[in-house]
Amino acid sequence: MSERVGIIGTGHLAGYLVEGLRRAAPEMEIVLSPRNAAKAAELASRFGARVARRNQEVVDSANVVLLTTRPAQAIGALGEITLRPGQLIISAAATVRLQELEPAAAPAAVVRALPLSCAAINASPTLLYPDHERARSLLERLGDVHNLASEEAFVRAGVITAFYGWVYALLDETARWTEEGGVPREAARSIVLETVRGAASLGLARQEEELCDLLEALATPGGITRQGLAILRDRGGLSAWIDALDAVYARLRQWRPE
Ligand SMILES: NC(=O)c1ccc[n+]([C@@H]2O[C@H](COP(=O)([O-])OP(=O)(O)OC[C@H]3O[C@@H](n4cnc5c(N)ncnc54)[C@H](OP(=O)(O)O)[C@@H]3O)[C@@H](O)[C@H]2O)c1
Repeated sequence: MSERVGIIGTGHLAGYLVEGLRRAAPEMEIVLSPRNAAKAAELASRFGARVARRNQEVVDSANVVLLTTRPAQAIGALGEITLRPGQLIISAAATVRLQELEPAAAPAAVVRALPLSCAAINASPTLLYPDHERARSLLERLGDVHNLASEEAFVRAGVITAFYGWVYALLDETARWTEEGGVPREAARSIVLETVRGAASLGLARQEEELCDLLEALATPGGITRQGLAILRDRGGLSAWIDALDAVYARLRQWRPE
């Protein structure tokens, strides 16, 4: 069966997904919801997607539908459409639980997924719950898929999608600081980004080593890594990250439909 993917909620995330899907699958039929007409027209012209006249047309054209509205809009969007048995909804609405999604999506199956913006370059670690063969094979086009064993684990791991954004804050601060000392902007940016890529690549290549052991090997007594780490720890630089993770987790756990 040819791949026909519909997207309801043509916003930021949809843009990343369309770019990544088109890159991975030149022949895939991608149909977009028409609300946010400017974004839909841009994606249609850049990536060869088709803009439907209404949401029901998206659903009628597709065997898999990605739901990428903001969380508070997700159940309402499902209420506007009639789904068929055998169809699959992949909801990316970060906070909306299966217990709300399932009755709204029936008789279609529904799963939750959390891709990141790096889906645009097919590099997104994407969370998935529950496992579903068709969802996995579609999302694998955008990067590695991590199927979580329970919805609670999915929610816990979902906090990392906020961490992904904070990483940019850390990168930006560090690149700016480097540049202010006289390093050309492009060099500062590349050095910072390649450093983080190197750290991530080594961690991925050395699965048998704990991340704290990779750090310990760098933090020689009297050295600069240890010096800076002590300042970060003393001033709450690392515990503030844990506070941020805790705060987002508490919000994701407590979310209830409006
Ligand atoms: N941005 C990311 O990188 C990212 C990553 C992981 C997960 N997510 C999740 O993805 C979802 C979308 O985030 P986003 O940043 O892409 O939001 P966004 O840019 O606001 O896009 C959502 C789009 O959905 C449209 N929409 C709302 N109700 C609709 C309906 N009934 N039918 C058709 N379209 C409808 C909105 O239109 P209006 O503006 O007119 O309401 C908007 O254009 C969120 O639930 C978020 O939790 C996002």
